[in-house]
Amino acid sequence: MRVAMIGTGYVGLVSRACLADFGHHVTCIDKDAAKIAALQRCEIPIYEPDLDRIVESNAREGRLDFTTDLGKPVAEAEVVFIAVGTPSRRGDCHADQSYVRAVAREIAVALDHFTVVVTKSTVPVGTGDEVERIVQEARPDADFAVVSNPEFLREGAAIRDFKHPDRIVVGTEDERAKKVMAEIYRPLYLNRAPILYTSRRTAELIKYAANAFLATKITFINEMADLSEKVGADVQEVARGIGLDNRIGSKFLHAGPGFGGSCFPKDTRALLKTAQDRAVPLRVVEAVIAANDIRKRAMARKVAAAFAGSLRGKTIAVLGLTFKPNTDDMREAPSIPLITALHDMGASVRAFDPAGMEQAKELIPNVVFCDGPYSCAEGADGLVIVTEWEQFRALDLERIKQQMACPILIDLRNIYAGEDMAAHGFLYLGIGRPDRAGPKRL
Ligand SMILES: NC(=O)c1ccc[n+]([C@@H]2O[C@H](COP(=O)([O-])OP(=O)(O)OC[C@H]3O[C@@H](n4cnc5c(N)ncnc54)[C@H](O)[C@@H]3O)[C@@H](O)[C@H]2O)c1
Repeated sequence: MRVAMIGTGYVGLVSRACLADFGHHVTCIDKDAAKIAALQRCEIPIYEPDLDRIVESNAREGRLDFTTDLGKPVAEAEVVFIAVGTPSRRGDCHADQSYVRAVAREIAVALDHFTVVVTKSTVPVGTGDEVERIVQEARPDADFAVVSNPEFLREGAAIRDFKHPDRIVVGTEDERAKKVMAEIYRPLYLNRAPILYTSRRTAELIKYAANAFLATKITFINEMADLSEKVGADVQEVARGIGLDNRIGSKFLHAGPGFGGSCFPKDTRALLKTAQDRAVPLRVVEAVIAANDIRKRAMARKVAAAFAGSLRGKTIAVLGLTFKPNTDDMREAPSIPLITALHDMGASVRAFDPAGMEQAKELIPNVVFCDGPYSCAEGADGLVIVTEWEQFRALDLERIKQQMACPILIDLRNIYAGEDMAAHGFLYLGIGRPDRAGPKRL
């Protein structure tokens, strides 16, 4: 099938690469000319494991094109995916739908035959109706259907998630559109990925409800971590103890510095806004947002606690800046408010991240960026692990200790065991775990 994919961010890039891998011919459109020029040279503007290999092989076999002009590819396509950003809008924090609306107007002009227009972007309930209205008003003669097909991939595991989804949600009541969507996802259907057909508005809400639920799980275990610290319990064992219950499940129960990234923060805020506009209280979501916002900065106080509450004149080394491992995405990363708070408390900060340093440099001033974990630890009074990159899980602890002015490790992802760290002579603080074997605080 001929597909046009508008927007080549994380979602657009991964979706079009995987759809091309299924055998469809995909033209990628983005208004960012530099991005398109880079893609034409087979340079991938984001870090996502395996993406470069898939793009290269499909481009070689002629199934991927790139352009800044959507006219011809949309006119030729049977399916047009909208995968542009829907960031938090300044002022009221609702999802900014202006990019989606702008694209809808451009698509309307180009439509030529029956075309399925699919919103893959995460959009507030009712956006599909709005896209339909825009196209209809601009082109009363056009033959088209608007479908909601939200994306559930996770950055860092995006290819796997796209190709082996738990489910595919298709929101439409148009029988022709259903057939087209079934054909697009046939390879996944053959792999037994369930397709859930539902109404467009329901599909739009499913995406927000899923993200809000996952954010709630994270926030719940983070609060249990705080309580564990006070009552002498171990949050990792609490998580295991509740996660073995099939009704709860073990995923998204890792205590940490709070959720960040390009989706959970903005999507929970947008969901809340949608509910407020309809006078529906969403108290759980409201509490999740508030608790998470406070938590990121509170992590700096946790670091300070290892220094009797004062960080003035201390040098803190930060390992991991991106909001999660295996991505270079710095959007709303917990490292940003944490480092700002460390600065506010008078500390100097050194940092290292395997993939996100270029983006981080633009967002976090006054940081000494280092070229590896060991150089980052050099002369530091304390080391903080913020993102659990694989390469931080097996650090040479003796070497780290030798580099540091003072062997204090604050592990905001609980990737080390307190007993082991104490055996290596570190003062170690994790999240929500008893200070079993750690030496006395300084
Ligand atoms: N990033 C994720 O992990 C993820 C997962 C699921 C869903 N989503 C949703 O998918 C959508 C896209 O997210 P993203 O992270 O890929 O966004 P992004 O900001 O990384 O990329 C969006 C792209 O759209 C392009 N664009 C904007 N307006 C355009 C226009 N008029 N014409 C052509 N191109 C245009 C931008 O130049 C940019 O390259 C969002 O709604 C997001 O919430 C993201």
